[in-house]
Amino acid sequence: MFYDNAIVALSNDALKLVKDNYIIGLGSGRAATTLVKSLGKLIKLKNYKIIGISTSLQIKLIAEKVGIPLVEADHVNHIDIVFDGADQIDSQKYVIKGGGGALLRENILFSLAKKVIVMADSTKFVKNFTRTVPVEVHPLARNLVVRSIEKIGGKAELRSLDRGYPFFTENGNIILDCDFGTIKNPKVLTQKIKQTTGVLESGIFLRKPDIIYKAKTGGKFDILK
Ligand code: A5P
Repeated sequence: MFYDNAIVALSNDALKLVKDNYIIGLGSGRAATTLVKSLGKLIKLKNYKIIGISTSLQIKLIAEKVGIPLVEADHVNHIDIVFDGADQIDSQKYVIKGGGGALLRENILFSLAKKVIVMADSTKFVKNFTRTVPVEVHPLARNLVVRSIEKIGGKAELRSLDRGYPFFTENGNIILDCDFGTIKNPKVLTQKIKQTTGVLESGIFLRKPDIIYKAKTGGKFDILK
């Protein structure tokens, strides 16, 4: 379920945090797309000098279309605000990301950010994580990491496209979608996942969002701080 009206409404609310000359991190996916389109309108309306940093080609194309000037993450020392979606959010406010495969760049932006805003519909909120954890892995470490995931109680599956071709991230890596069942301690689990050489990123981010927008039916939303 994706609540379009609510995402439009909460994007406009979240954009009240944006000030002139801000450096803004642009997440990937549908929620981020809605926000970036509204950001483009805001910049034109207020004549703001904003710089965007994209987390994927998907969002870069949207940002270019709506006229947001872009730089790369290694050109800045900080990001004022990151706006992004999430695949699942637990009751401790940890997020799982990487459904679209952009987790490494997304986590770099989270780490550079003074403020992280996450936007997701209510179906993604759970007490404990239940979905698979995307893990970005160097292709040559595939079997090493599959075995290490098994050792810590998970089952890793190589993410594939139609007809079985492997999915490659924009960094040239593969994704292992790892099933750990119900995850009660996301912090410890992600620390264990990241211990194996060849793991580039875990979809459980240790940096928690500062503000979470929860989209609901009927164009409504809640703000969780
Ligand atoms: C991209 O890799 C993901 O982390 C997305 O941010 C996440 O999948 C949320 O996407 P939607 O807003 O499309 O649900």
